[in-house]
Order: sequence, then structure tokens, then C-alpha cells
Amino acid sequence: MRLVEPSMEWQNEHKSYVEEWGPSRLVPSSFNISKFETYADFLDNFFARQKGDGNWVPSSGYMLIDDNKALVGMVDIRHELNEDLLQIGGHVGYGIRPTERGKGYATRILAEALKKCKELNIPRVLVTCDKENIGSAKVIIKNGGVEDESFIDKDGKVIRRFWIQLF
Ligand SMILES: CC(C)(COP(=O)(O)OP(=O)(O)OC[C@H]1O[C@@H](n2cnc3c(N)ncnc32)[C@H](O)[C@@H]1OP(=O)(O)O)[C@@H](O)C(=O)NCCC(=O)NCCS
Repeated sequence: MRLVEPSMEWQNEHKSYVEEWGPSRLVPSSFNISKFETYADFLDNFFARQKGDGNWVPSSGYMLIDDNKALVGMVDIRHELNEDLLQIGGHVGYGIRPTERGKGYATRILAEALKKCKELNIPRVLVTCDKENIGSAKVIIKNGGVEDESFIDKDGKVIRRFWIQLF
């Protein structure tokens, strides 16, 4: 099991992952390929955006690949917070392939992402989830998340916010 950066090598895995995910919004959305004509276009945009551009803060995105070279999850690490990310989104967002859920992979991908956050010298990592997302809250708490005040968005949706202290 390892984290890899997207590349042409993972094109077919990425496409089948997105198909399996279905119509709901892909999380993290940075891995959405639907608006690009070619996979090369997606990759160009993905790495340009990671440098921090306009509304985007600098970030790094990785795929979690299992020992059979299957793509089981995706994670996006925001290197810094802006006002929006401070309320919703935080430093780390992740998603797991629907058929691979409930096997501990989200717990693993967040743990791997925290190692990357350490390398990036982020002392305290913010991770958020919708109040209804019991699975994600468990993943965050298992990785040391300490709950802060929730944020309520303009539609009344409650977002739980957790900090994970690294240094
Ligand atoms: C939320 C999500 C990441 C969980 O992934 P996962 O790989 O199934 O999580 P894990 O297997 O590591 O599970 C961790 C814990 O949460 C529990 N859990 C997972 N999904 C759950 C659910 N839907 N309801 C209740 N508990 C759940 C597991 O049983 C486990 O608890 P345990 O350790 O007490 O047994 C996955 O469902 C997903 O990708 N959802 C869509 C995207 C998303 O919500 N991302 C998070 C944004 S904050």
C-alpha cells in the first residue's frame, strides 16, 4: 500500500475509479477528470493548480494504491488554510473507492497524509466533515483529531472541525 502522484500510468485505474464512484461529487474534487478532454489535460491542470493559483492554495494530491496496483483512495493536502478552508475543508480531504470502504483505508490514507503534513512542517492539521458523516468523524478521531467548534454554512449544514497536533 503506497501513496503515488497521478500520472499517465494510473489513467485507466483513475477512470474506472471515477466510474465506480458514480454521480455523487468526487471527493477530493481535485481528482475530477470529467471536465477534461484528455487525461494529459487533467494532469496539466492538476499540477498547475497544486502550485497555488488564484483561489487555490498550494496543495499536493496522492492516490492510495494497494499491493495489486489497484487505486483504492485519493487524498488532497492543502499546505495552508484560507478563510474558507478554515471553516470547511481544512488541510486534508480524502475519499475511498465505494467497493473498498469499511476496510480501514480511510484511516490509513489520513495517517499517510499526516506524514506528508509533517514533511511540510504543518504543526496542526485541520480536518473537517459533515455532521452526518459518522465514518469520516471516526477516521479523524482515530488519527488523533480533537474537536473544535463546528461551522454552520449558509444552508444550515453543520460542519464538524477537528485539529490534529503534529508538533
Ligand atoms: C467516509 C469514508 C472516507 C470512510 O472510508 P472507509 O475506508 O470506509 O473508512 P474506514 O474503513 O477507515 O472506517 C473507519 C471507521 O469508520 C466506520 N465507518 C466507515 N463508514 C461508516 C459509515 N458510513 N457509518 C458509520 N461508520 C462508518 C468504520 O466502521 C470504522 O469504525 P471502527 O474503526 O470503529 O470499525 C468513505 O465512506 C468515503 O469515501 N466517503 C465519501 C467521501 C467522504 O465522505 N470523504 C470524507 C470527507 S470529510
